[in-house]
Amino acid sequence: MEEHILNPKEVFNELVEEEEGFRHLNNPADGIKPITKKYLGIPTHVSQAGNKFYFTDGDAKVELVVVNEEIMRVRVAPHGVFLEDFSYAVPELSNKPVAVSLYNDEKEFKVSTAKVNCHIRKSDFFISFSDSNHVVTSADAAPMHWEENTKFGGYYVFCTKTCNPDENFFGMGDKPTELNLRGKRLTNWNTDAYSFGWNQDPLYRSIPFYISVNEGIAHGIFFDNTFKAHFDFGAEDKTKTSFWADGGELQYYYIHGPHMMDVVKSYHLLTGTHPMPPLWALGYHQCRWSYYPESKVRVVAKGFRQNQIPCDGIYLDIDYMDGYRCFTWNRKYFPDPKKMIKDLAADGFKTVVIIDPGIRVDDNYPVFKEGKEKKYFCRRSDDYFMEGHVWPGRCQFPDFTNPEVREWWGGLFDELIEMGVAGVWNDMNEPAVFGAGTFPDDVRHQYDGYRGSHRKAHNVYGMQMVRATYEGMRKIFKNKRPFTITRAGYSGLQRYASVWTGDNVATWEHLKLGNIQCQRLSMSGIPFCGTDIGGFSGEPDGELFTRWIQMGTFSPFMRAHSAGDTKEREPWSFGEPFTAINRKFIELRYRLLPYMYSAFWEHHRYGFPILRPVVMQEQEVLKNHFRQDEFTYGDKILVCPVMEPGQKSRKVYLPKGDWYNYWTNEVTVGGDEVETPTPLETIPIFIKAGSVIPEYPVMQYVGEKPIEEVKMNVYYSDYEVNSFFFEDHGESFAYEQDIYSEKKFIVNGTESSLEIQQSMEGLYTPRYDAYCFNIIGLPFIPAHISVDGKEITDYAINSEKVLEFKHTKTFKHIEIKK
Ligand code: GLC
Repeated sequence: MEEHILNPKEVFNELVEEEEGFRHLNNPADGIKPITKKYLGIPTHVSQAGNKFYFTDGDAKVELVVVNEEIMRVRVAPHGVFLEDFSYAVPELSNKPVAVSLYNDEKEFKVSTAKVNCHIRKSDFFISFSDSNHVVTSADAAPMHWEENTKFGGYYVFCTKTCNPDENFFGMGDKPTELNLRGKRLTNWNTDAYSFGWNQDPLYRSIPFYISVNEGIAHGIFFDNTFKAHFDFGAEDKTKTSFWADGGELQYYYIHGPHMMDVVKSYHLLTGTHPMPPLWALGYHQCRWSYYPESKVRVVAKGFRQNQIPCDGIYLDIDYMDGYRCFTWNRKYFPDPKKMIKDLAADGFKTVVIIDPGIRVDDNYPVFKEGKEKKYFCRRSDDYFMEGHVWPGRCQFPDFTNPEVREWWGGLFDELIEMGVAGVWNDMNEPAVFGAGTFPDDVRHQYDGYRGSHRKAHNVYGMQMVRATYEGMRKIFKNKRPFTITRAGYSGLQRYASVWTGDNVATWEHLKLGNIQCQRLSMSGIPFCGTDIGGFSGEPDGELFTRWIQMGTFSPFMRAHSAGDTKEREPWSFGEPFTAINRKFIELRYRLLPYMYSAFWEHHRYGFPILRPVVMQEQEVLKNHFRQDEFTYGDKILVCPVMEPGQKSRKVYLPKGDWYNYWTNEVTVGGDEVETPTPLETIPIFIKAGSVIPEYPVMQYVGEKPIEEVKMNVYYSDYEVNSFFFEDHGESFAYEQDIYSEKKFIVNGTESSLEIQQSMEGLYTPRYDAYCFNIIGLPFIPAHISVDGKEITDYAINSEKVLEFKHTKTFKHIEIKK
């Protein structure tokens, strides 16, 4: 009930007091008293160099870079000297010319593109942004400021913006809390968080990017600062949103909407998208800490084929190594790894191995010896090596922020790949150190020539490790797509890896958390994500495991994993009816592969997230800002996992439009909640009317058999709807040379007709010839079907009133009439 609107000076005064609080909470232990705390003064001068603008108060300088019509970057140099412009998140800023104007009147400077205005107020240096309709979308509640850091040098940097009564916040990566971040205070500092709990913060990844939705308009803030950083979304004071960091520059991107989807797309323009994964990586993966010896791996693999449960990936956790030394094999457990991997591959399994950054200190271990000789390991400021204990015992750690070290690391995969390893799982790269948690602050990093202490490099360490892995594999694989997973990371990690949410727990609460975490990761620029299905620690019962498999079917990355001290955890471990239901869902995943792969393409090419919370469909509906159970996969399939034991039915919100219940084909008009049965055999799945959902035949693994025909499920609608269908070789980078097929379908119906149009782009031709159409939900009995003007007579209407017919895949126009 905050009725009193503060004037800027009141806001400012309140904030001065409040910042003391921030300062206190921020660094409770280090006991440093701020020597100087300085706010921007009065902007007296402006200069322009192309799309860069500089404002100064006589001492401090603010740089505004107009990146494009939608994105502007703000930077502050406390005494007028900027740091060198380098970012691991944003490899390069677009240098396309952009039309921009500078206005200067009594009250403000204004820099405008066709879509965004940045206002710099002359009385107090407050910065705000507005859209082309003059709606203010983001406004400072205090001038940006900084405090000197007398211990390490540099500054603590702060930015405080207003927070409006109905403004809500989303994004920020894997935070294990409600999807809507309003009222939360969060910290980014990559942390190994075994068995983390609800609201625990920070976790493994740092994604300093949030999306605000206020009065139906979205904008994003990307605070590209790798130091320990903090965000407050109206927690301390509900009228303010702030972000600050323990070092580095105050540098953030303002990203214009007006839709959340626009913001996410623009964020991807800055930080990149995920490359197309190998198609098999979208299949089911089975993991455990650890499957060993070799005979156990073979038994598990055989179990899949015997139980006829599809599976593509099988994992080797740390016990495959000799004394946990990376790039070695325990020959007692795995006497002939090459043969094992080959046999597994012949049965359709891709072998994925774990790698950790800690390298055992052991002069008889070639990786250590070489790293030591070449000075590739991190050092403390007084030149001691950074040493810490991890799985192998005493370790040193490569400095992955050094390009030469990355190159070396990448080359170390040579032998594993020669043995047939298809994927690499990068773990413990926060970096995690037993006891200490992580490295001390004074560890030095090369930081691609821009040098820094661990304070600056900590949050990017894991991302640079997986980058080294990915780039190394890519070189060795040549034209084949590597598959990598990482636990830690920073914005931009999606260019190199998929992620899993770390060491979760086998509880219903964690199933809920995992659902939110995957949606949140997806809208924070990390599309290829999943949870440890079943929960890493603890024991799920059959029901919880099955509900997790059902949800995991709709996680972009689908992997079951469990800790070493847990019982067997394969999809058949719980007996019936669970095995049959788990099989049915994993099969569903394989049937939907072409749809899921197409959603991946939409991400890769266009920057869309794969999972989309309903707030992304209808951000103008305030209630949707608080919905976190249901989401869409791509934009056509809405899923609502069941996350309570014994639940017989549950409410599902359907956005506006018509939706088909996937199991019954019954149509429901969206815009409201619908009570949906949830027997153990199903979870609520709805398909948007007008969708064309391609289905592959069930296979035990990707590529098991040639595809003879593709089922095309077409869902009638009386309004026009577009669908995408992407295909390619599934394992090479040929798509970068346009060797792919991107089909677009337009479906449009009336009371007595349905039209389907197909157009195609790209140079790839799939081997199969035919589409097998299932036309669902026709409101009339079809009597005429013509394809490109030619009538076809060979069709059937099945007992579920679905119209079935086949046709070669090349057609432009189908018309179905009464
Ligand atoms: C870490 C990982 C977990 C893995 C274990 C052993 O806890 O998060 O997934 O199984 O280490 O390598």
